Amino acid sequence: MCGITAYYGDRETCEILLDSMKRLEYRGYDSAGIAVLSKPKISVRKDTGKLDEIEGKLNHGNSKSRAGIGHTRWATHGNVSEKNAHPHTSCDGRFALVHNGIIENWEKLKEGLGEHEFQSETDSEVAAHYIEERAKNKGTEKAIRDFMREAAGSYAIALLDSEEDRLFAVKSGSPMAIGMGEKEIFLASDVYAFSPYTDKVTFMKDGEYAVVEDCDIVVKNTRGEEVGKRVETIRWEQDDSGKGAFDHYMQKEITEIPRSLEKLQNSLETDQRDTLRRFTEKLKDCGKVIFTAAGTSYHASLLGVYFLQKAGVEAQALIASEFENYERVDENTLLVPISQSGETKDVLEAMDYSKQEGAEIASITNVPHSTVERKSDLNLRIRAGQEVCVAATKTFTNQLYVLMKLAESINGTKVENSLMEKIKEAIERNEGQIKKLAEEMKDEKDVYIIGKGETYPVAREIALKLKEISYIHAEGMMGGELKHGTLALVEDGTPVISLIPGKGSDIISNVKEAESRGAKIIEVSPDYGDFYVPENSNGDFAFFSSVLGFLLTYWTARKKGLPVDKPRNLAKSVTVQ
Ligand code: AGP
Repeated sequence: MCGITAYYGDRETCEILLDSMKRLEYRGYDSAGIAVLSKPKISVRKDTGKLDEIEGKLNHGNSKSRAGIGHTRWATHGNVSEKNAHPHTSCDGRFALVHNGIIENWEKLKEGLGEHEFQSETDSEVAAHYIEERAKNKGTEKAIRDFMREAAGSYAIALLDSEEDRLFAVKSGSPMAIGMGEKEIFLASDVYAFSPYTDKVTFMKDGEYAVVEDCDIVVKNTRGEEVGKRVETIRWEQDDSGKGAFDHYMQKEITEIPRSLEKLQNSLETDQRDTLRRFTEKLKDCGKVIFTAAGTSYHASLLGVYFLQKAGVEAQALIASEFENYERVDENTLLVPISQSGETKDVLEAMDYSKQEGAEIASITNVPHSTVERKSDLNLRIRAGQEVCVAATKTFTNQLYVLMKLAESINGTKVENSLMEKIKEAIERNEGQIKKLAEEMKDEKDVYIIGKGETYPVAREIALKLKEISYIHAEGMMGGELKHGTLALVEDGTPVISLIPGKGSDIISNVKEAESRGAKIIEVSPDYGDFYVPENSNGDFAFFSSVLGFLLTYWTARKKGLPVDKPRNLAKSVTVQ
């Protein structure tokens, strides 16, 4: 997946595009590029590397051009290289485009373009040559409509046409937001890309394309008929105030956890109070609850199942990418997608499938106005604010909090109000011990984390963080499963991080089994081990153990000198399957 942005107006085009691209880097950061409208050929600059490393090269300077497009890439087709970076151009240099998504039949489309010379290995470049070929005698709009009819897969495309002096946008399956400025137009993968410039936005729907000419935009359907668009005024809730005194966003966002929980608690008691009530009613009245999510959000959904089952509601959780293989939904199903970004393609696919089968959808998201939110019948926002680090931290604990509050409102557990204070204390009192453990762990090749009940999902979450941030192979698992095979891997000194909620926890027997085979046991517990863990009750141990796990992975990665906030090969929001 990638981030795309486009601008038509009288500001300094490259400055606007670079600023937007920085806001879109969470969608991919292995390469980037900018094209500005110029005659007779469009001017293109692109390179591999993160934006802060290459922005000087990408900036065309005071180009006087009124229109431009920009792209940040997460490679899907073709390796990370300058030639595979976007924008891609047509043979004659008349067109340049940026693309987010996957054109699944790109090889078939390419067959019909035999005489064209391709510069890259990407699916996206085929669209530039296809439109070039068709526009020769039909004009660009007709060429775009032909493309929309023939192309399969998902795409959000911004296209510059230097002959017609116009900017185009095409949408099917990948997000495209439109910002309506005073005599200027913004297009981007999400509304935050242009949040400093306008709060008037609208969203393109699948099967629509837009024509921008001289700062005016018209949206049309595949028959070329103009479609009306409802323009909303967005109340901006998230703003990246930078790292401040912190060395990394991850460090800052971990310390923000208590404050984020307080903001959420307040929201659930005020502006989202009715939404919480309606959400609770849906959970109680439906035939079955199915959570679906990916990565960290999936681990939150596992805890959602744990809390709801305790509250007497039948629930299950399914990884979004496998949803159709394992789940049958019907009109009695309540699908609960959980997604921080609200743009995860696997989750959106599960939602589309469930909607077709008649299910109702009540989602839990963070980024306001996301595609998941807009496709849901009901949406609860976790109000964690903007999370810049690729690794989810404060959004995970806010997801847990919403799930606990839902369980509580269905007569389940009582969420401790001192929770935030206790988390703050756990962060402050353990930093020294965590740094010491990180120093010991940083060269490990394999780490195991075991949990049980409410801490099994946390064990998986800590393992994910160790992999994605510290590049250490880790396995988070149920303590009881160790003896059914994994114990064979335990040797003298193998680290086994054990999440033990308190004395008498039945995971202790699993810990002893590992210890007796030489494992180096690292206990996270209010009663054992070297960490300070507050006394806990009713599921709040999941918070404490998560936060300590985040701190451990952060310091381990930092001691290894890794790019903590933007780990290799990953992106914050995975908008492709
Ligand atoms: C978590 O640290 C990862 N960044 C990743 O697993 C993430 O949770 C997953 O891609 C789901 O993202 P979402 O919550 O935006 O849907």
